[in-house]
Amino acid sequence: MDVLEYRVVLFEDRRELKPETGIDDVEAKKNAQENIIFKNIWEAEKEYSKELSEITGYPEYVFNPYPGMIVAALSDKNDVLGFITISLNLLNKSCWIAHSWVNKKCRKQGVYKLMLKRVIKAIEDINKTLDPERQIERLELGIFLSNAISKKVHRKIGFLPVARLCSAEIKKISEKL
Ligand SMILES: CC(C)(COP(=O)(O)OP(=O)(O)OC[C@H]1O[C@@H](n2cnc3c(N)ncnc32)[C@H](O)[C@@H]1OP(=O)(O)O)[C@@H](O)C(=O)NCCC(=O)NCCS
Repeated sequence: MDVLEYRVVLFEDRRELKPETGIDDVEAKKNAQENIIFKNIWEAEKEYSKELSEITGYPEYVFNPYPGMIVAALSDKNDVLGFITISLNLLNKSCWIAHSWVNKKCRKQGVYKLMLKRVIKAIEDINKTLDPERQIERLELGIFLSNAISKKVHRKIGFLPVARLCSAEIKKISEKL
């Protein structure tokens, strides 16, 4: 896939398709284009869930993307080169990166870093609207122990491990209680 030209775009949400009829032509055209992008994002999210399931051994549904804000890298044909889903937590002043993925054909070319820059720009814009004591200060994310590449990538970018995420099957825990 050609990675020379792409754009990085923030969407407030991408779960609902927008109306394409009963509105003026300009808006209908804009919505139709956005709907194509949303459907392409849904396909990319499926590829992401499948890949993470293969890497971690967890079922694909574990990686069903959060609703809400998403930054996507799009080709001129609106193919999805990658995405990052985010949710803001004003109470602990952090932005949680829930899911991130770059198309296998476009990796190691800086697509992820460019999307992260767009995430940071979105946070800066939101911070301008918030009281200083409520502003977002940190990016946080979880990495599965078996995801060696993600560990390398995030360490290179400057993320430090600060916690160990634990998981247990309720059935197994119940036997021990
Ligand atoms: C993790 C992922 C999003 C990185 O995307 P990417 O577009 O290839 O990353 P970038 O090209 O922006 O690279 C960022 C940095 O990581 C480095 N890097 C990227 N892939 C690497 C690899 N396989 N091994 C070592 N370093 C790597 C780059 O060299 C760059 O470092 P630099 O700034 O020092 O040059 C991508 O590998 C991916 O989608 N993996 C599968 C899904 C996944 O694991 N998501 C993360 C869940 S926590």
